Amino acid sequence: MEDTRVYLSEREMPRQWYNVQADLPKPLPPPLHPGTIKPLGPQDLAPIFPMGLIEQEVSQQRWIDIPDEVLSIYKLWRPTPLCRAKRLEEALKTPARIYYKNESVSPAGSHKPNTAVAQAYYNKREGVKRLSTETGAGQWGSALAFGCNVFGLECKVYMVKVSYQQKPYRRMMMEMWGASVTPSPSDQTEAGRMILAQDPNSPGSLGIAISEAVNDAVKREDTRYSLGSVLNHVILHQTVVGLETKAQLKKIGVEPDVLIGCVGGGSNFAGFCFPFFPEKKQGKQIRFVGVEPTACPTLTKGLYRYDFGDTAQMAPIVKMYTLGHTFVPPGIHAGGLRYHGDAPLLCLLYDEGFVEAVAYPQNPVFEAAMLFARTEGTIPAPETAHAIRAAIDEAIKCREKKEEKVIVFNFSGHGHFDLAAYDMFLSKKLEDYEYPDEKVREALKHLPDVKE
Ligand SMILES: Cc1ncc(COP(=O)(O)O)c(C=O)c1O
Repeated sequence: MEDTRVYLSEREMPRQWYNVQADLPKPLPPPLHPGTIKPLGPQDLAPIFPMGLIEQEVSQQRWIDIPDEVLSIYKLWRPTPLCRAKRLEEALKTPARIYYKNESVSPAGSHKPNTAVAQAYYNKREGVKRLSTETGAGQWGSALAFGCNVFGLECKVYMVKVSYQQKPYRRMMMEMWGASVTPSPSDQTEAGRMILAQDPNSPGSLGIAISEAVNDAVKREDTRYSLGSVLNHVILHQTVVGLETKAQLKKIGVEPDVLIGCVGGGSNFAGFCFPFFPEKKQGKQIRFVGVEPTACPTLTKGLYRYDFGDTAQMAPIVKMYTLGHTFVPPGIHAGGLRYHGDAPLLCLLYDEGFVEAVAYPQNPVFEAAMLFARTEGTIPAPETAHAIRAAIDEAIKCREKKEEKVIVFNFSGHGHFDLAAYDMFLSKKLEDYEYPDEKVREALKHLPDVKE
């Protein structure tokens, strides 16, 4: 009988990250300066990021070594297990085999430390003393607080106000690892003050919190900014997830038919799928399915256009699927999936037809999470539950068509700090929200005027 969990030893851990830029079907459109709207050079990014990460951002090299210092921290929880969801399969009466890569076993409880640790390391190596960042659900902020803690850096987190209020335990966790946490929009930055002047009751958004964190970094010589998703170097670091998954499937002689992940900015999904891209490009039948909320339907309803990465127009302009940088999503409970854009690398491959996307309202997502928790045990993060919903629906299709497919999804994080959202679901207080097409059209009127 097949084992329920597939492990790799520490010696079998990947020693290099995979850079999909080496294998893209066409080059990535260049990022543009938010002020001049001209292509950005490395020097333009230097006040925000350390050179080691800027080099990774533009590198075309297929494999990039994982530094020993980063590997030794990864070993606190990696390699993570690949698990067969047998009890879920039985509950669904599906002939499909369902596997999930369990990234919830990290100290912060998600995939986010894979890049937080790497980013803290490269900053430390270049003498940076302090990192500023934003966080939505608190997962990224706690991952960076952990990363800064292991490399002795200060950490300043701007936390989206609605999450700050909903998730006090995430804030406490960040503070335990030594970070200082401020609800955003705040009066501590010019960007925050500007937003508060327009709307003193703003619930905040990732776009606004990013503006505050970038503003903080450019104002201080000792500080750089750190982003938990979207950027090429973040996706590069997250490929450790897909590389391990590939090795684990190989170990048990299993070929995946479909890979599924939730998409906020795209980092867990891309890090999970991209290592399988070279084979897919050569014609291997393997589907990549990204899952987003109907309340923030970036891939399924957005446009592939140049847009600002943040609300206050301070971050670079990149070509991506976007709902418009002025988009403020409703306060749904998957806070980490509320970003108006997506990673340019993911958007390019989606536009080229290599990636599929589906969107779900929150109630069916929480139903899927409940079924998972009651069969497999672990309580998923609401973000992760989007991937579970799609995996369950694929398995149901297999039951209807009597197909024995292999479905693998990325279990990006646990939901131990999201119990208030589950409480609302159980008391039937969660509302489904479909972002209206007129609002998407309105937000898209404010895109920067870029000639392509
Ligand atoms: C558990 C979890 N999964 C997924 C995401 C979405 O981010 P990304 O699309 O970058 O993986 C988040 C973001 O906060 C998260 O906390």
